[in-house]
Amino acid sequence: MIPQSFIQDLLGRVDIVDVVDRHVKLKRAGANYVACCPFHAEKTPSFTVSQAKQFYHCFGCGAHGTAIGFLIEYSGMGFVEAVKDLAQGAGMTVPEVRSEQTVRRAEQGESLYEVLLRATQYYRAQLKDAPRAIAYLKQRGLSGEIAKRFGVGYAPEGWQNLAAVFSDYEGKALVEAGLVIQTDEGKRYDRFRNRIMFPIVNDRGNIVGFGGRVVGEGEPKYLNSPETKIFEKGRELYGLYQARKAIREEKKVLVVEGYMDVIGLAQNDMGFAVATLGTSATGNHIQKLLRISDDVVFFFDGDEAGRRAAWRALENSLSQLMDGKQISFLFLPEGEDPDTFVRKTKKGEVWTATLFSDFLLGELKARVDLKTPEGRAKLLQDAKPLVKQIFSPFYSLMLRKELAKLTNVTHEELDREYQIKPQPASSPSLRVPAQGYPRTPPTPLARTLLRILVSNPALAEKLSEGQRVLLNSPDLAPVAELVSVLKDSGATLPAMVIEATRESQYSALYQDVAGEILATSGDEESAQADLAGAFNQLELLQIRSERERLAAGDLRNEAERSRVQELDRRLAELKGAPRAETRPRV
Ligand code: GTP
Ligand code: MN
Repeated sequence: MIPQSFIQDLLGRVDIVDVVDRHVKLKRAGANYVACCPFHAEKTPSFTVSQAKQFYHCFGCGAHGTAIGFLIEYSGMGFVEAVKDLAQGAGMTVPEVRSEQTVRRAEQGESLYEVLLRATQYYRAQLKDAPRAIAYLKQRGLSGEIAKRFGVGYAPEGWQNLAAVFSDYEGKALVEAGLVIQTDEGKRYDRFRNRIMFPIVNDRGNIVGFGGRVVGEGEPKYLNSPETKIFEKGRELYGLYQARKAIREEKKVLVVEGYMDVIGLAQNDMGFAVATLGTSATGNHIQKLLRISDDVVFFFDGDEAGRRAAWRALENSLSQLMDGKQISFLFLPEGEDPDTFVRKTKKGEVWTATLFSDFLLGELKARVDLKTPEGRAKLLQDAKPLVKQIFSPFYSLMLRKELAKLTNVTHEELDREYQIKPQPASSPSLRVPAQGYPRTPPTPLARTLLRILVSNPALAEKLSEGQRVLLNSPDLAPVAELVSVLKDSGATLPAMVIEATRESQYSALYQDVAGEILATSGDEESAQADLAGAFNQLELLQIRSERERLAAGDLRNEAERSRVQELDRRLAELKGAPRAETRPRV
């Protein structure tokens, strides 16, 4: 864990303009710098870097972030790696200081990350002394170099090997990490025995679990870590950490089902594959993949089970579809899996994948007889819940057109049937919708407050108790959270806000807001005035609603009547006070 204070210092020292310019040549444009966006194809520059805010934002594709975020996205570095890289350039040393949380965990035993890292090191060392395991990997075509890249190891036979590695074999940590199983009688033994070990790495480069394959034949063929505090199968993708750079370069990501498939593909120069962990692809998986690539290709077995798995992936993709992004399905010939298939084909050879909409319609059509009115009605009915989940205007429209054609109804009839409202004529924006926070947009006032605070984070410490209380409403939860994170952060730049809120459920919203204020100049004095104005308006709204509530109750008692008088007094005061402009001069 790198202390947040170090991140803040680092962002105060490095200059994002230098960092970006090393990879993408920037040109000055007014207060900012611009270039053609490295994250999407474009001919005129909409990628903008603000030196004052230490933040980049692309007005074309919506990519944005700090110097740290840029390195992660552009070079495929992990968070820690990116911080170390920047620190080195700035002549700073990343402190080994442990965060409070780590210290607390260390007191109870080791942190789960440390436990898993130590286990990985042990398994890797064991592989060197396991000729049978090495022979097995060789026979499957893997080189030592690829095995190293994926940290492949070997858990030897025996029930308590880990006792030699961890002094506290009886402690909680090994069980919590999923490495040791405790029986009802309190006996303990290693979960993984005589297995090739595949460490599962999260986005930050930490090991969170393992997959283990028997050497040769045996049951079960694969054994996975159980879900733990730090490992959720629906969120992690095997190989993504190692694949980021190749995905970026290839502009494509392949999604396969097995560990060995990912490694086999990487061995054959296709390092842009990832695997789900014995579950079907979740919405979260798909969201993650669509963020880093415009082209997601799922590989499935050509059999019945493969088609069922593909259909589940399709259902989970519907709400994640985005204009300008493509999801397709590749069904392998009977008896092949990606690992064997790739040996017979070559990179660049055209694999014919089925496009999302073709697969969807194909499966639905196969269930009905289109020659009969009943069949056509059923097709419309079956497709309705699927179409309703699609937010992407383009995908939705294309599908509805196809459906109308297939069922011989007009487009208008179909939309009426599906209760789809006609879209306003405005051109759908290219911008990728920000993901990761509830789709209900924040109120204009909440957004104003966010803009002021992200732009001038130091103001968060100056809020009065009364102002903080005003933030106690569900509408304003993102604002309240931002204020509480900023309170002790010492953040003075928008970039610092972004890094301080990386773990927040609203981080995508904060980044969005940072993008909006990119072109504005933030002087603190006018920001302070705007903030005061916004809080006055907030209080005004809250008083009005309380007053209405009281009035609706007929003011039965004295307390209520005097509260109303008090509110009216405050209302009169507030009316004389300045109001926030909807778009403050921040
Ligand atoms: P190889 O035989 O090594 O080539 O395996 P594979 O990659 O072809 O595996 P397969 O297609 O059989 O399975 C794909 C994925 O499903 C694996 O990577 C595991 O995550 C999971 N899986 C397969 N078999 C088992 C099993 O017996 N138990 C569990 N829990 N998961 C399994
Ligand atoms: Mn296989």
